[in-house]
Amino acid sequence: LITAGPTYEAIDPVRFIGNHSSGKMGFELAKTAASLGAEVYLVSGPSNEVVTTSAIKRIDVVSAEEMYNAVHTYFKDMDVAILSAAVADYKPKNISNQKIKKSSDSMTIELVKTHDILASLGKEKKNQFLVGFALETNNEIENAKLKLQKKNLDLIVLNSLQDKGAGFKTATNKVTLIDKFENISEFSLKSKAKVAEDIFNEIVKTIHA
Ligand code: CTP
Repeated sequence: LITAGPTYEAIDPVRFIGNHSSGKMGFELAKTAASLGAEVYLVSGPSNEVVTTSAIKRIDVVSAEEMYNAVHTYFKDMDVAILSAAVADYKPKNISNQKIKKSSDSMTIELVKTHDILASLGKEKKNQFLVGFALETNNEIENAKLKLQKKNLDLIVLNSLQDKGAGFKTATNKVTLIDKFENISEFSLKSKAKVAEDIFNEIVKTIHA
């Protein structure tokens, strides 16, 4: 099970809160998993990426809530779940049924927390191998280790904004992988397809450790 892309949180019928995630990393993970022989469920937020093999079942969602529901539909039957989506942490408290007209000079939108999908799987998991992503800007390793423990993960993929060529919209990524035994592996800048291979090698290594 793989999540990918951004989520869009509606403000009114024509506006939303979103982010710049392209979905590339998640789609590369899905392709790599399929090429290794896995049956893949890919739950994706809005993305221009395409799936070209029937080994990948794509489930399109828009909001964090839809992603949460889709992920929970499939999780119990999965062996490995990798949550690479850039899920919105907050959504508008109220969605206007009508397009909001401009009136005063400023406006305030009240936001409320979305469900943390990854943390919810960490609570629910039985034998599944659970992988999360972390995007940190300071104390990266320490923060990623804390996230791994707090969300009950088996492996965390750390992206650093300090690294050029890494992150949203780029074709390349530079990651550090930390497993639940706190083994740290740093990788060089490479294509997201190659990063996906590194992640699966690490998953297989950790499962057999
Ligand atoms: N994630 C999720 N559901 C959310 C938010 C995040 O499943 N509502 C997942 C992402 O897919 C990713 C990881 O959690 O695997 C990223 O966590 P991140 O957003 O970096 O950290 P948070 O736990 O939200 O903490 P903070 O923003 O304070 O760093």
